[in-house]
Amino acid sequence: MNEIKVGLIGFGNIGAGVVRLLQENAQTVQQKVGSGIILKRIADLDITSDRGVSVDPAMLTTDVNEIFNDPEISIVIELIGGYEPAKTFVLKAIEAGKHVVTANKALLALHGDEIYAAAARKGVEVQFEAAVGGGIPVLSAIKGNLSGNRFSSVFGIMNGTCNYILTRMTQEGADFEDVLKSAMELGYAEPDPTFDIEGVDTAHKLAVLASLCFGTKIDFNAIHTEGITAISGIDIRFAEQFGYRIKLLAIGKLTDDRQLEVRVHPTMIPLRNPLADVNGVFNAIHLTGDFVGPVLFYGRGAGQNPTASAIVGDLVALSRSIAAGVQNRRSAPLGFLDNTITTLP
Ligand code: HSE
Repeated sequence: MNEIKVGLIGFGNIGAGVVRLLQENAQTVQQKVGSGIILKRIADLDITSDRGVSVDPAMLTTDVNEIFNDPEISIVIELIGGYEPAKTFVLKAIEAGKHVVTANKALLALHGDEIYAAAARKGVEVQFEAAVGGGIPVLSAIKGNLSGNRFSSVFGIMNGTCNYILTRMTQEGADFEDVLKSAMELGYAEPDPTFDIEGVDTAHKLAVLASLCFGTKIDFNAIHTEGITAISGIDIRFAEQFGYRIKLLAIGKLTDDRQLEVRVHPTMIPLRNPLADVNGVFNAIHLTGDFVGPVLFYGRGAGQNPTASAIVGDLVALSRSIAAGVQNRRSAPLGFLDNTITTLP
């Protein structure tokens, strides 16, 4: 069986994790796909720094067009993050007939409809499990085994950096700035960590997640967004004395008159609630479906290994459908079917 050839755009912390996973677990991946996944080309502006993984220097390029123009490459992984040039690159990859795997929640939250429409027109797929919840396979579950349900709510802890900061402030009385620095060193934070601490990253994830759950477009600008920068050690200690723990929550709730409430803000969680014990870089996402009832997903929400796990999971799923000759399984990934839902102002 033919090998699946892949191009990677963005050789940062997560890109290096994907390369390492594909090297260390090559046999496992090959067994799942039934043929090898070959990383053929890696594009980045910096192709000289040591990423802690060994790659053949001939694979590296500063010219992304070498990926778009390579007819052997059928899947492009976009890991540069942010809005541009990521959007241009993803649209170029789609236009060149490549399937796309991305972890870019910012891009999907703001330009997802344009990207999914381009993919549907071209008959290729865009997969994005790593965009929400790090290594937690929550999007696959919503698109897969839970797809018979109508959801009434989705909420949870969706930013590893904020949860890590709040946990260390709660457990050790640590200083906000010191813990943020440590979250950056651990590779949890966004390149611009204000996206994490101001709640923007969480709002990006809520937009992607709620679109999938409720089958409707989410106006990103309509999401009420507050981060954790105003939370002090005193707030945390008083909350604990009253039996609560402060967590940054993302909440999407459908009202009885089919309006969608979408908001991100610090929340007082009763200590007996399982979300109060979600600590460090862990995320937890709670869904309520009309037939399945409540479901809680829990796992590492950020970092090189869990994110690489989600990306390679998408890569394996796509490669299996390519290998089986079944393409475009989900030409409308978000299935914007429900126009009866409106976002609350
Ligand atoms: N900066 C993000 C977080 C990375 O801390 O959750 C994972 O999306």
